[in-house]
Amino acid sequence: MSATTEQQPAPQTAQPAAPGSGARPRVLSGIQPTSESFHLGNYVGAVRQWVDLQREYQPFFFIADQHAITVEWDPKVLRERTLRGAAQLLAAGVDPKRSAIFVQSHVPAHAQLAWVLNGLTGFGEARRMTQFKDKSAKGGEGAASVGLFAYPVLMAADILLYRPHFVPVGEDQRQHLELTRDLAQRFNSRFKKTFRLPEPYILKETAKLYDLQDPTRKMSKSSSSPGGIIEMLEDPKRTAKKIRSAVTDSGAEIRFDLEEKPGVSNLLTIASALTGQSVAHFEEAYAGRMYGDLKKEVAEIVVDFVTPFRDRTLEYLDDQAYLMEVLADGADTAGAVAEATLRDVYQQVGFVAPLRRSAAGA
Ligand code: TYM
Repeated sequence: MSATTEQQPAPQTAQPAAPGSGARPRVLSGIQPTSESFHLGNYVGAVRQWVDLQREYQPFFFIADQHAITVEWDPKVLRERTLRGAAQLLAAGVDPKRSAIFVQSHVPAHAQLAWVLNGLTGFGEARRMTQFKDKSAKGGEGAASVGLFAYPVLMAADILLYRPHFVPVGEDQRQHLELTRDLAQRFNSRFKKTFRLPEPYILKETAKLYDLQDPTRKMSKSSSSPGGIIEMLEDPKRTAKKIRSAVTDSGAEIRFDLEEKPGVSNLLTIASALTGQSVAHFEEAYAGRMYGDLKKEVAEIVVDFVTPFRDRTLEYLDDQAYLMEVLADGADTAGAVAEATLRDVYQQVGFVAPLRRSAAGA
């Protein structure tokens, strides 16, 4: 998997400086702790790229707990899910020796920069964000929180603080990245050039996994039915059953065609993503065979993948002291970068710098 959907050199071709020099190009991304488990779309659409990119880039990856409170939440559950999120990043192969892994609320500069960017964001511009439209559609705009409305602005702050070159995400985040670039440009032209315009890093093949029960919709923590979503931490037997019951399409031919055969195409994408074999390989292997055969093999591929992932996650969760150390180190590394950017921004926008008293003189 090397092609990106962007007209840009693939990140692998950028010129990295020596590891540890601090001059390596940066990547940054985040994931919300809004579910008991990452789903397979999160993994193949985003987290797997984080693991790959951490080798050549200077990486910042975080659990977006502040985004998670833009819709109804339970404090106890949020706390648990935040730690589960961190454990899953480690289980997926995000390496704390290479990557800063942290919790968004541990770095206050995110919310602080978001406030500045709120002052530069048009109301109409925020309202046009499709995620806000989708998520507020059910209860009506009046019932949605101001946090949900301002969600993309916090996301822009998350990104711009680190001046990353690339932001590895799934297709559903593209519009937010466009807003981020617009805000960066606006800030840079209104004040002085402060922010880098980040490029989305979206792999075409896995940009969007679809719901197993309704393969015209994306697999989603918030809107998929339990049968439609492959949760990485659920009982693998249940996962296998869900895949064997996936909705397929009319006809009998096994070929990749998102328009005519979204269900089969989704299964082919999953098989290819987890084995590293091409979609064409599976099309060939399944020529003249039945949908049921394909489902059975995909179920096995997924179970073989999620079983050790689940075991590793549970092991990390058993060692909370270690998890907290990782998150503390990550917040230190991220905080130093973020605070330097924030100071710069505060100065540009005209905030008076506070007098810093030394501890002895205070
Ligand atoms: P979240 O938590 O919804 O999803 C995490 C990542 O998974 C990707 N993804 C998918 N990829 C392929 N197929 C799917 N069905 C699928 N569903 C989700 C998402 O695109 C995402 O990359 N707003 C972000 C979190 C965030 C963030 C950031 C990301 C907050 N601040 C700054 C990047 C940079 C979100 O809700 O992701």
